[in-house]
Amino acid sequence: MNKDAMQTSNIDLFSDETLRNPNPVFAELREMAPVVWMDKYKVWAITRYDDVRDALSNTEVFSSTKVAFNDVMNEALKGTSLATDPPEHAQLRKTLLAPLTPIALKKIQDDITKKAETMIAGVVEKGSFDAIEDVARAFPLEVVTDMLGVQGEAREKVLLWGDAAFNVLGPMNQRAAENLPLAGELFEFCANVKPEELTEGSLGRGIFEAADRGEIARESCGPIIHQYIAAGLESTIAAIGNTLKHLAANPDQYALLVNDPSLVRSAFNESLRLEGPLGLIGRLVMQDVVIGDTKIPAGSQVALMLASANRDPRKFENPDQYLVTRNASAQLSFGSGVHSCAGQNLARIEANAILSAFVRRIKSFKAGEPEIKLANMTRSLNSLPVLSVETV
Ligand code: HEM
Repeated sequence: MNKDAMQTSNIDLFSDETLRNPNPVFAELREMAPVVWMDKYKVWAITRYDDVRDALSNTEVFSSTKVAFNDVMNEALKGTSLATDPPEHAQLRKTLLAPLTPIALKKIQDDITKKAETMIAGVVEKGSFDAIEDVARAFPLEVVTDMLGVQGEAREKVLLWGDAAFNVLGPMNQRAAENLPLAGELFEFCANVKPEELTEGSLGRGIFEAADRGEIARESCGPIIHQYIAAGLESTIAAIGNTLKHLAANPDQYALLVNDPSLVRSAFNESLRLEGPLGLIGRLVMQDVVIGDTKIPAGSQVALMLASANRDPRKFENPDQYLVTRNASAQLSFGSGVHSCAGQNLARIEANAILSAFVRRIKSFKAGEPEIKLANMTRSLNSLPVLSVETV
């Protein structure tokens, strides 16, 4: 290792202080070097856009067998699409993707649109509401639980399970340790759920029917249901909530959407760029690799700093600004390469439905102070009070 070229930081990426205001920390690391040794957790942070994107695409050097920042979860995730490298990854992913293709999702799109319109009509009637609790959290929860056909006691737990599934990917700090039992409950539920416990006609029940027809292995049913709750819930809640936060803070940008609701897609992409749900994700380095002037030795863990890459001024002009007309399609919040988010079609359908319904009914709105939710891996809000709305 070239010691002279090695940049070191003592910053704790998972402390309350960093999580409360991560962007200045990311900027500091990004300007320090393309690779920074994070002494607290003994990982190398890869900070700049091109290097993060290249690492996401290079599965020979950057293995997904260490996506989490603790050994317990890296062990628990073995055999999942998320944590498996090519060539085995391809088959696992193919099975997971079956219910998530655009054609499969088209069938539920009308239902999602109707749900969004009803939800926004309800909050507009109230006049003041919480954009997180009543919209960003309520909507994906309703969509995902109805889609899967989850009922009864499990339905009440789904939010906690989804939240825990991300928190436990961090280092084994108090947040991760407290969430381990809940993450375990989710694994247990998915491993043991029976088709008759899921609503008839639901996509969840359909997964088991596909197994009965021999289209997928019976052992894949649990992991498929797991992905909707573990990977798909808190991430989508965060993405929708963060978009509403940026729209509230930028009334001029919101007005552009009201004038042209077709901009909703690019407004969502831009919010994923500015404040994607996942700040970072781990990889195990399989062979010595040099980035910039720094050699990262085989066997090390790296943190791919997605959120830092998305604000890299080398890639995006005025990166800290929220501009709904920007072409932000190069953002890395869904990852890139073979592991890029398997659920992004669903996430986009949900976001598009709820944000379009919001923009079509609400001409302008005033929001109070957002309350940040401290979480190991995801960046989201606990609350965003909407104090008043002017309807169209
Ligand atoms: C806005 C919402 C979402 C964001 C920001 C997001 C983000 C990501 C990211 C960054 C990755 C790549 C991880 C890596 O490279 O190691 C990923 C993978 C994945 N996501 Fe999402 N996700 C979202 C929604 C969803 C939804 C709704 C689902 C499920 C229905 C889902 C299922 C998955 C799965 C299964 C993988 C692993 C794919 C693989 O390894 O082949 N995600 N997601």
